[in-house]
Formats: sequence, C-alpha cells, structure tokens
Amino acid sequence: MNHSVRYYWFLLIAILCLSSCGHHNKNHIKIGFSQAMSTDDWRKQMNSSMKIEASLRPEVNLTISDAENNVEKQIGDIEKFISQKVDVIIVSPIESKPLTAVVEKSLKAGIPVLVVDRKIEGENYTAYIGADNIEIGRIAARYIASHSKGSGKIIDISGAIGSSPAYERSLGFNQIIKENKNLKLVNTIQGDWEKESVKKPLKNYLLQDSDIEYVFAQNDRMALSAWETAKTLGLEKKIKFIGVDGLNTVNGGIELVKSNVLEGTILYPTGGNEALKLALKMYNKETIAKNNILNTIVIDQNNAEIIENQMDRVDQQQQVIEKQQSAINVQEVEYASQNNLVRLLSLFLVIILSLAVYSIYSTIFISRKKKELERINKTVVEQKNEIQDMAEIARKSNEAKLNFFTGLSHEFKTPITLIMSYVESLIENEKIKGTALIDEVKLIHKNSNRLLRLINQLLDFRKIEEQKFTLRASKTNIYSFTNEVMTNFKGEAARRNIDFKLISDAKDTTLFIDRSLMDKVYFNLLSNAFKFTPDNGSITISIKESANNSVKILFKDSGIGIPEAELSNVFDPFFRASNNNKNSSGIGLHLSKEFVLLHHGVIELKSKQGSEFSITLLKGSGHLKASEIIEFTENKNDISSLLLDDLNSDTDFNDNKIIEDSEKHSLLIIEDNGDLVLFLKNKLTAEFNIYISDGRDAIEKALDIVPDIIICDINLIDKDGFEISKTLKKDLRTSHIPIIILSAQSTKESVLKGLQSGVDQYITKPFSLSILKQSITSLLFNREKLRYYYTNNIYRVEPESKFGNQEQAFITKMNEIIKSNFEDPKFSVEDLAEKLNLSRVQLYRKVKAIIGINISDHINNIKLEKAAELLKANQMNISEIAYSLGFSTPNYFSTAFKNKFGVSPKEYKNDTLG
Ligand code: FRU
Repeated sequence: MNHSVRYYWFLLIAILCLSSCGHHNKNHIKIGFSQAMSTDDWRKQMNSSMKIEASLRPEVNLTISDAENNVEKQIGDIEKFISQKVDVIIVSPIESKPLTAVVEKSLKAGIPVLVVDRKIEGENYTAYIGADNIEIGRIAARYIASHSKGSGKIIDISGAIGSSPAYERSLGFNQIIKENKNLKLVNTIQGDWEKESVKKPLKNYLLQDSDIEYVFAQNDRMALSAWETAKTLGLEKKIKFIGVDGLNTVNGGIELVKSNVLEGTILYPTGGNEALKLALKMYNKETIAKNNILNTIVIDQNNAEIIENQMDRVDQQQQVIEKQQSAINVQEVEYASQNNLVRLLSLFLVIILSLAVYSIYSTIFISRKKKELERINKTVVEQKNEIQDMAEIARKSNEAKLNFFTGLSHEFKTPITLIMSYVESLIENEKIKGTALIDEVKLIHKNSNRLLRLINQLLDFRKIEEQKFTLRASKTNIYSFTNEVMTNFKGEAARRNIDFKLISDAKDTTLFIDRSLMDKVYFNLLSNAFKFTPDNGSITISIKESANNSVKILFKDSGIGIPEAELSNVFDPFFRASNNNKNSSGIGLHLSKEFVLLHHGVIELKSKQGSEFSITLLKGSGHLKASEIIEFTENKNDISSLLLDDLNSDTDFNDNKIIEDSEKHSLLIIEDNGDLVLFLKNKLTAEFNIYISDGRDAIEKALDIVPDIIICDINLIDKDGFEISKTLKKDLRTSHIPIIILSAQSTKESVLKGLQSGVDQYITKPFSLSILKQSITSLLFNREKLRYYYTNNIYRVEPESKFGNQEQAFITKMNEIIKSNFEDPKFSVEDLAEKLNLSRVQLYRKVKAIIGINISDHINNIKLEKAAELLKANQMNISEIAYSLGFSTPNYFSTAFKNKFGVSPKEYKNDTLG
C-alpha cells in the first residue's frame, strides 16, 4: 500500500469514528424497569406513562421487562439488567420477600434501585415511590365510617398474599374499623388482585349472611367482581362497594363510580412518570428522599365527574404529547437521515478537499521534482556534450595521427620500392653475382621486403578499420596457390633444415579467393611459423575437403606454441603472446582474421605442441556478392616485376633542357620524388621527350609545353594531383592530353576521385614499369585512333552534345572560324589562335595532337574541301573559287588542289559534272 492510499484510509476511518461517536451520545442513560405483570389496565397505564416520560428525554434508553406475575422470572429479569450494567433499575416487585435479595445484589453491583408500587422486605433499596397503602386502607375505612347508616357489617377483600399493598391496605383499614364501634369487619376474603379470586368465597359468604352494608375490595377489578357476585344474588343495590385504583378507563374505577356500581374508589396513582423522573435524579446523583409518597384521594359521586374531566384533560394532553412525540420521532428519523446525508456530504467534502490539497501538494511536489530533474538533465546534457566534444577532439586528434601515420606509410612505399628496385638490379648485376657482396645485397633486399610488408600491413590495418576493403575473389586452385606461396619460404626452410611440406588430398579443388588478401594471410601464418619453429623442426600445410561444402587449410608447426589461456586473444589487434620474445607488430594475425572473415571463412588456432592454425573456406561462390567476384588476370603489379636501372644522381627539376626529337611523343612527369623522377626519366627517355615538374609549376608547364601525355603523382608540393588534373582537363589548351595518375594512394575513394577529375588511367605504387609503359602506349594509341577519326571526318565532326567531348567542341568551333574567314586572304594562324584564346604554339600543338597535322595544312584542307564543293555546284569559275577562298593565285590553288585530291580543279569539275 503506498503512502497516499494509506493516508486516505486513515482519513476515512477518522471521519467514520467521529460520526459514530456522535450517535453514542444519544440514549446513553440505560434504565431497566422490571414490571410485575402487564395484564391489567393499571399496569398498562404505569408502563405507558413511564414510556412517555422517557420519550421526552432522548438521552434515556428505557427497557421494560414483563415478569408475567412470575417471581422467578422477575428475579431473572433483574439479574439480566445487572449483567447489562444498566444505570438504574426500577422494580415493581410481585412479592416482597423473594425479590429482596436480587435488589440487594444490584446495589452491590453499584446499580441504584428504585422500588415502585409494591415493596421489598426491609429498607435495602435506593428509593421508593408509590402511594401510602396503609393510608389508602385508612381512607377507605374512614369513608365507610362517615357514610355508614345501616348494619355496619363490612367485608374486606384483600390482594395477593406476599404483596406489600395487600398487607398494608388491610392494616390501615383494620386500624380505623376497630376504632368505630358501629362498624364491624365480618369477613376478610383472601383475593389475588384479580376478579376470579373473589366470586366464589364472596358468594358463599353472602349466601350465609346477606346483611352486609359495605364490601371493601383492595382494587377496582375485585370490587366489580364483588358487585357482579352480589348481583347474582340480587344484593347489588343493598350492599355498597368501595374499590381502589380509580382508573379513568372502560370499567375503570371512575366509570364504575359514575355508573353507581361502586360507592367510591380510592385513587392509587401508578406513578410511572414520576418513577422515571426519580430514576434520572438517582442517575445524576441528586439528593432525593428515600420514600416518595404519591398523593391519593377518594372518588365518589361528588367528584367523579370532575376528576374524570381532569383525567380526560390529562389524557388528552398525554395524547397531544404522544402525537407530538411521534411527530418528533418522525422528524427525528428525517433529521437522522438528513443528518446522515449531511455527514456523508461532509465526508465527501472532506475527501474532495483532501484530494484537492493532496493534488496541489502533488503538483507542487511534481513540479519541484521536474525542475530538479530538468536541472539534472541539463547537467547531464552539458556533461554529455562536453564528453562528446572531448571525444570529438580525441577522435580528430586520433584521426589526424592515423592520417599522419597512413600518409607517412604511403610516403615510405616509394623510397622502399626504389631501394628494392635498385637492390634487385644489383642482384642481377653480373659484376656482383658470384662475389661475397651478393649475400649482403640479398640481406638488404630481404629486409627491404620485410619493411614493405610491414608498411603494407599498417595500411591494411587502417583500411580494415575504415571498412574499405572489397573482396576481389577469383576462382583459384588452392593447391597450386599454396605451392606458389610456399616457394617464397622454401629457401629459408632448406637453410634451417626445416621439414616444410604440403599434404593434400584435394589437388584439383578450386576456391573463390582474393589472391592478394589470401597471399597476405598465408604470408603471415608462414612467417609466424618460421619465426617460432626451431631449426630442424617441421612446418606442414594440409589441405582437406571437409563437411558442409568447405575446405580446411591447416598450418602446423613444431614451434613454441601459444599458452592455452591466451588462445582466444591471438587474433586481437596488437596482441603479443607472453612467450613471444621476438619483435612483432601484433597486427598480422588480426589482419589475417579480418581477411578470412571477408571471405566468410573461419580462422582458428589450436596449440598443444606447436601451433596449428586452421582456415575454413566455403566452396563455390554462393556466399559472395556478384561485385566481389572478378575474372583472374595475372597480377603484374608486383614489386618483383619492377624494372631496374642505375640511379646515381639527384634530380634537377629545373633542368628542362630537352633535346626535342620531333619523332618522339612529349611526356610531362609531375612528381616530387627526385629518385622516382630520375628512375622514370631513365626508363622512358628513349621513347619520349621528357619534361618534369615537382608539382608547383605543373599547370604552367603543361600549358607551355602542351605535352602528348602526362604522368602525375597525387601528394605533391602545394597542390594535389587531382587538382592539377582537373584544371588541365577543363582548359581547352590541355583538355586533350591523356593523364596517368601514379600514386601510393590505393583506396577506392582516391581512384574514384581521380577518375572524377578526368584522368585517363590510375596506377598505384609500387607499380610495374611495364604496365606504366603499356598504359602510356595504349592512351597514345587511343589518341591516334581519335585523330584518325577527326582527320577523316573533318566536316562531319558532330557538336559536343553527341559525343560529350571537349575536343569535338573545340574542332567544331575552330572549323566555324576558319570557314567564316575563307575570303580573307590576310586571315592568319595567329588570328585563329587569338580567336580561340590560345597562343600560336598551343594551337599548333593542340591541333597536331588531335588531328595529327599542322594548323596551316588543316586550314588549307578545309579550303580545298570547300573548293571541291563549289566546283560541284558549278556556279563559279575556277579563278573565282580560288580568290573567294583566299588563295593568292589560281595557279597556287590548282597546285594545292591537285596535291590533295590527285586531280586538277578543272579535271575534278569535269569528272563530277560528267
Ligand atoms: C394492579 C394492581 C392494582 C393494585 C395494585 C397493588 O396489578 O392489582 O389493582 O392497586 O396492583 O399493587
């Protein structure tokens, strides 16, 4: 249960408690009344007047128990009141003696007892209320004494034995009768307060003695019974009857007096209302009299009417009170229900208010929390941004460092390539062969090779990191491939007496592998094997066909192996086994794993005795993308195929004193590595007029020379090769020149960038001279083909839109200018160059490069083509045509025409017109 729910339960319980406590305040005075019986009207009236009195006091809770004239039951009723811990007990005892003990018990329990009407024995009760029954007896006797005129013979009919009124009434009555000598109590009949007890004994007596003047019955019910008994004997008028109680009811004492049945009745008030009032006083511990005597009076013909009226009025008032009381009750019920409604509404109001308070509190709490969270969030965001900034700085710095190292590695490649070229040249040199120097030279070669491999590994690592490798797999016989690679290690194996062998049961199996990558993997595994295998050891490669359409290639050596705990780390970058004391970059195995993964293969290592690497490769090409598969062409782009030459001097880039040989093509080499320039110069000078630039003046030189072909490096001083290529390809003066990029940058991006700059060929370092030469030859040959096309289609050269070629556009434009100036004999090559924004030399070289003839011949050719057209049209004579085309004389025209077409203009005209 959460905090708020608990809070509401508590609130609800508190409210319900408060409302129920209000209820308990009502009826908190418990009064128990033990009534002797409730069969007769006197008792009924007593109960009723007590109830009315109680009803006027809402705080009183009155319980009436009817003992049904049974003494045992009455004792039980009172004990029950005691156990219920009522506040006051009122008791009207059936008999005196049997009830005495239980009254005393009640007092002992601390419950005060009010005795009404009849008494108990002794004085052990709190208070008594009732009329004085001895006095009632006396009043009756005195009344008879004062009214007696006859025999004076009297019969007394007493109440039940054991009840105090019966005893006391007889006592008082006898006292007075004894005092009057005229009066004589002839008989006392023992009644029990009820009519039946009278009939038989009285009849018997009257049958013996009918001369009776008065019968005193101790209540009106027995008096009526006596009258009825006398009547049966015809004595009802002769005898006078006196009763007790004087009730104003049907057959009550007053009615009996009024109807002359009774001579009189002594009023015996029930005292019900007074008893209740007294009980309350007792409860409130007010001082009260122990015995409270109610007044009495004789009712006879003289006052019956008046008393009846008075009683009627009292009764009416009583009824009014009762009606009001019931109206009050109804209102009370209404009030109670309205009160409940109000309470309920209040309850809801309180709940709503508390909810409102709670929601305000929650809103404030939430908004505070929100602000706090926002603050924290802001801090977190700031910290995150800081971290991101720092990470960015770190990344950039890392990137810069990596780029620096990558650049540096690229830069290393050219000098190493050159070193190796010269060393290979030395190895081949007859003067060194067979001398002691050869071993040292071979050592230089070996270590250069190793250095180159390491640099390549570094570059590969970067490339793998940037995910720039694309697989170029070709179908390869894996047995032959393995054998080829092994050749490189056979010398070392023989020298160190290492048993180096290949075992295979799959000699014809072919796999799709990227040979250059797999070559690196093999090289790595074998280099490691040789590094860690002692002399006289063994290294075995096994090729096995295995399940799931795959082939396993195992490299097992008898070397030191790798500790078991480190097996899982061997393919991590920069890992070095703890037992490896040799120099190691720690990236070879990492690269091997990445290369095998590129093939969707698996490389694993077991090392128990020695190491055993296994490469698992899938057969077929289903696991490769179409773009990853290539047709195999012999890869000549290999260091070993680089041609060698003597290089022994520094390059002077400013030395452009070229002895031009007009038969040779001109070649501009844009390269800042002097050694490489010198190498190229030496290798190509036989076939080309070579011009050089370190990059700074590359564009100027190209514009000046307009060479036939350009070789350009990328990383140059000031500018990069892409920029230079782009500029030259955009410039009309140089746009026709084929450009070959020769660079150490071998990524897809740089090749793409080169091609976008308009270069014609991209060759990566280390390069093969033969490939370079072949590329130059091919490009010049293509140029030649194009030239042939232009020369033979000079009038039909389409606008550039069709071929998208700048050169076409150039020729179209140039031809237009020439045609529009046909008639001007002074129109010179200089004028044409100016109109094309070129120098005379540039125009000369460009036209020579594109169409293979000099510009003057080209202009003449166009004029002569036009002349042929005009001759066909037959509208001008030959002289007119010669002059219109700017020829100085018709003779010169005729000679030139004959030179071109083999016939004179005249013959041509005649031939075509027939
Ligand atoms: C009623 C009654 C009265 C009589 C009184 C005496 O039960 O019999 O008639 O006066 O009891 O206790």
